[in-house]
Amino acid sequence: MRIIGIETSCDETAAAVVEDGCRVVSNVVYTQIPLHVPYGGVVPEIASRAHVEKIGEVVRNALAGCAPVDAVAVTYGPGLSPALIVGLNAAKGLARGLGVPLIGVNHIEAHLHTPFLHDEGDDRPVPGIDCAMPALGLAVSGGHTTWVDMPSYGEYSIVGQTLDDAAGEAFDKAAKLLELGYPGGPKIDRIAREYLSRVPRSSSLIPFPKGRPREGVSALAGLPAELCVSFSGLKTALLRHVQQNGGAAKLASDGEVPRIVASYQEAIVQAVADRTRRALSRRGYRSLIVGGGVSLNSRLREVLSEVAGDAGVELRLAKPKYCGDNGAMIAGLAYYRRNVVGDEAMAADVNPCLEVGA
Ligand code: KG4
Ligand code: ZN
Repeated sequence: MRIIGIETSCDETAAAVVEDGCRVVSNVVYTQIPLHVPYGGVVPEIASRAHVEKIGEVVRNALAGCAPVDAVAVTYGPGLSPALIVGLNAAKGLARGLGVPLIGVNHIEAHLHTPFLHDEGDDRPVPGIDCAMPALGLAVSGGHTTWVDMPSYGEYSIVGQTLDDAAGEAFDKAAKLLELGYPGGPKIDRIAREYLSRVPRSSSLIPFPKGRPREGVSALAGLPAELCVSFSGLKTALLRHVQQNGGAAKLASDGEVPRIVASYQEAIVQAVADRTRRALSRRGYRSLIVGGGVSLNSRLREVLSEVAGDAGVELRLAKPKYCGDNGAMIAGLAYYRRNVVGDEAMAADVNPCLEVGA
């Protein structure tokens, strides 16, 4: 079964055709990052207009040589409302035009499908959900930092999450404060990696807070504090550090930025690793499935592989090209999990706050 997946929840206009849930037949991603650079973050209005301009071409290119398809899948939440609307309406039009069913998919659940996407020529011979269940899912992106219990494939319930910023947002805001440009995650990753290759981690890092919320805080919404994270204290600590040391320009001219960003990155990575370790110890998990743009972070990949090794679970990470937003994860997940289908999907509106497991 071939499905085309359409994704416009944030700043990538993307479409892909995937066969039987895992075999990627085409994958087209148009990134709007250059349009948002001058603002240091995604501007919803600009994102929406750019999606309108690009969606036709992106879908046409994804379908070229890959038709016919049996269904159209689309992200209908969570994400930026004006951006989601463009993809959902394009998908409705395409499904009607092709005379095939429409399937609405959850963007965060789709990130957790990315480790199973398979390209022609890959070593793994049989594309499919080849991981042992139950699994712990970790979606770590610009919009979300969420730990998900997955008893079987396609079943999801949130066990922990950030109470404020997502990890990617924390990277991006730090980069903005330090005048490193947007998006901050890849820049901080590169600077920190270079710094840590010449200075031992233990001797030099600033002890930034590791974002452990207090038990009983109402924002926990019933989730255990030990599986949740908060990055607002970390951001404030960075702001204070920058102010007390003469500002971003002075820190840059003193050559202090690499040590600061390596320390800041370590605080985020250790916070995520600590919650993951605790979540893994609460149930007999057999796999750790990780997706989302921040899972590209080289230090996070290293530490999560230690965490998984210690817990005796298999770590499943996506290929770098599937970590960021893409249509293949939408088309792929739609084969296994359909939040809304057919007439219900045709009548559905976008849901910017769509919950995992809803
Ligand atoms: O998954 P994604 O493309 O979009 C969302 O669904 O949010 O994630 C984008 C986020 C941005 O915040 C970006 O700074 C972060 O992923 N990111 C990274 C790295 N590459 C991208 N964060 C840390 N290290 C990286 N190498
Ligand atoms: Zn995403």
